[in-house]
Amino acid sequence: MADQGTATNRTNDQDGTQSASAAPKTRGDARIVVIGNQKGGSGKSTTTMHVIAALMATGARVASIDLDARQGTLSRYIENRHSYMTRTGTELPMPTHRAIEPSTVASIDVARAHDAHAVEKAVTDLSTRHDYIVIDTPGTDNFLSRVGHSYSDTLITPLNDSFVDLDVLATIDPETYAMVRPSKYAEMVFQVKMQKARRDKSNRTFEWIVMRNRTGQLDSRNQRAMDDALGKLSGRIGYRLVAGFSERVIFRELFLDGLTLLDLRNPGTDIKMNMSHLAARQEVRDLMAAIGLDKAEAIGA
Ligand SMILES: Nc1ncnc2c1ncn2[C@@H]1O[C@H](COP(=O)(O)OP(=O)(O)OP(=O)(O)O)[C@@H](O)[C@H]1O
Ligand SMILES: [Mg+2]
Repeated sequence: MADQGTATNRTNDQDGTQSASAAPKTRGDARIVVIGNQKGGSGKSTTTMHVIAALMATGARVASIDLDARQGTLSRYIENRHSYMTRTGTELPMPTHRAIEPSTVASIDVARAHDAHAVEKAVTDLSTRHDYIVIDTPGTDNFLSRVGHSYSDTLITPLNDSFVDLDVLATIDPETYAMVRPSKYAEMVFQVKMQKARRDKSNRTFEWIVMRNRTGQLDSRNQRAMDDALGKLSGRIGYRLVAGFSERVIFRELFLDGLTLLDLRNPGTDIKMNMSHLAARQEVRDLMAAIGLDKAEAIGA
């Protein structure tokens, strides 16, 4: 059995140091953006990195937290960015990054207390020195992810353009697209919203935004049906639907260099922008404007 007295969450700072949980302090004013969807591969980490880069491009001080540290896609993305800068001598804005792994303590109650404390401590520490904290979460339901969700001022759920993925929000009638029942994820979002309202007495908002990802660039019957179904659901389960990203190879290609579409205009990043890249960058800007995180005119050249 694990030693409950000494086991803690591993909280890895960007410089590789590890810190155990400490007593909570008062939260600062950083706005917290959580990217979540319990379905794997919906584009959470890709969206997270683009939101981070778009916020940094406005001059905002940005921190990031990887709550999917075992998979570690966001952490790897940021490491790749660091390596790219070293390799090419390019200066790029970097977030203050932390990765938090779920507690390994055997007792569920103790493990949950550790998870809650680890997130609270990271949020409290980072809040005082940053304008935004952007949190990536795993594509599965675990307690650490729930805690992360409960800190959302803005929750962004990327959703692949398929009825298989829509099932993560609700079961719908196949003919009318009316909701039959909300999904476990939608119920979880409702619960964490209540939890946040109880915890933050300061009337901080909790806005849930669903964005479509990997949409086809041609109008299709599936796309129109998804529009219809997502429009009907939004009022029932309380999210705002915004346009997201099309299916574009560039979103996959940038990972290895740790770059985003917002970085390509930087001197030193030698990827030549074509029409598809420009359109993709515009989609990122539009997303930021739609969710009110823009200072839109400052994003991109
Ligand atoms: N708009 C897009 N166009 C093309 N490829 C995309 C797009 N968005 C994401 N991808 C690709 O889809 C895959 C899954 O994306 P990503 O890792 O961001 O999803 P995720 O939700 O974080 O996954 P997980 O649940 O495993 O953490 C990756 O290969 C990524 O490059
Ligand atoms: Mg991911």
